[in-house]
Amino acid sequence: MSIQRFVGRPDWYTTFNPETLTATGDALRWGVVATGNIARTVTADLALLEDAVLHAVSSRGVGSAAGFATDFGFATYYYDGGEHGTAAAGYLQLVQDPDVDVVYIATPHAQHYDIAKAALEHGKHVLCEKALTITAAEARALIELARERQLFLMEAVWARFVPGFQRALEILESGEIGQVKWVRADLGFPAPMDDSARIWAPADGGGALLDISVYPLLWAWGTLGAPEAVHATAELTALGVDAQNSLALSYANGAQAQLMSYLGSHGPRAAAISGTLGFIETIGSVNNPKGLRIGVGWEEEREEYFEHPGSGYTYQLREVTRCIQAGLTESPTMPLADSLAIMALFDNAREQIGVSYPNDSRTDL
Ligand SMILES: NC(=O)c1ccc[n+]([C@@H]2O[C@H](COP(=O)([O-])OP(=O)(O)OC[C@H]3O[C@@H](n4cnc5c(N)ncnc54)[C@H](OP(=O)(O)O)[C@@H]3O)[C@@H](O)[C@H]2O)c1
Repeated sequence: MSIQRFVGRPDWYTTFNPETLTATGDALRWGVVATGNIARTVTADLALLEDAVLHAVSSRGVGSAAGFATDFGFATYYYDGGEHGTAAAGYLQLVQDPDVDVVYIATPHAQHYDIAKAALEHGKHVLCEKALTITAAEARALIELARERQLFLMEAVWARFVPGFQRALEILESGEIGQVKWVRADLGFPAPMDDSARIWAPADGGGALLDISVYPLLWAWGTLGAPEAVHATAELTALGVDAQNSLALSYANGAQAQLMSYLGSHGPRAAAISGTLGFIETIGSVNNPKGLRIGVGWEEEREEYFEHPGSGYTYQLREVTRCIQAGLTESPTMPLADSLAIMALFDNAREQIGVSYPNDSRTDL
């Protein structure tokens, strides 16, 4: 029986544990753009890699730039007090620093394109937080630029690289649960309602679709590939972003996926894959499950658990590092074609649910 596995394990991925911290080549000098929640978590994991040099950080404010630099031991920092919603000048100074090899972008979505473009134009490799951009048009323009300049570009979908997801792919590939018939996945949390918070603000690319949906989607995409059709529904806020959405995916072979993303409630944050011979269910959140429950036939059931260094981001950071060291311009595990296809799926879903952002009407691409 042949199982379609859409996401390949990277060739270095021979063990789930501490090898991701060991140097795979010459050290890379990192520049981190923005000092918010995820910048802090990812930087703490980056510091665990033997071949990562924390060179520069940039922030809109001097206090946050200096504080972040001190906390993690960055050699230098940039800041400027830029206005809400702009690609602040401090960020653009960082991408011009000749001692930065790779830029990690952790701003709200609406600024990803401008900062990544500037970084590529200044010869830097880029790891950009999800969603890569706001639109597929922006993603396409960035990808073309990265290819033209022969620079590495990757969307930071860390969940592709974590042990729980990679192990699920391995089980599928073994044929143990047979042919996948359906996938169900959900992720979300009750985010405090505050119109100015990036997660709710249209100007920042707010809403559950761009913030959350990439994770439940990964379980369908990783096991069944790109769908033939998508049916999207959503509940919108007064400002017109989606407080929750549901994506129903259908596939040419009859398989189906049902995905929920939400910012207003608690949920199991779980994925289930149903196969003709058995099933896989996550234990713990879909973006980094601590375990898997595997059922085969009517009787047999087992659980597998995983450990990881840091907060689980070292796997994607090792992948970026080893790809750049090897002269690759994209990751075989998080290829640019996937980022582009997923941004196109989000464009399609937004059209169906009626969500638009200021970046939709940009004419400078
Ligand atoms: N991979 C993951 O697990 C994960 C988890 C959460 C979020 N994310 C992604 O990471 C990105 C940032 O999310 P986050 O949760 O870290 O957000 P956050 O805590 O709000 O931080 C965003 C940072 O961006 C900068 N910024 C620039 N313009 C801004 C604006 N108009 N409004 C708010 N902040 C602005 C600020 O840094 P300065 O003040 O230093 O300039 C701010 O601290 C998003 O793309 C999100 O989807 C990824």
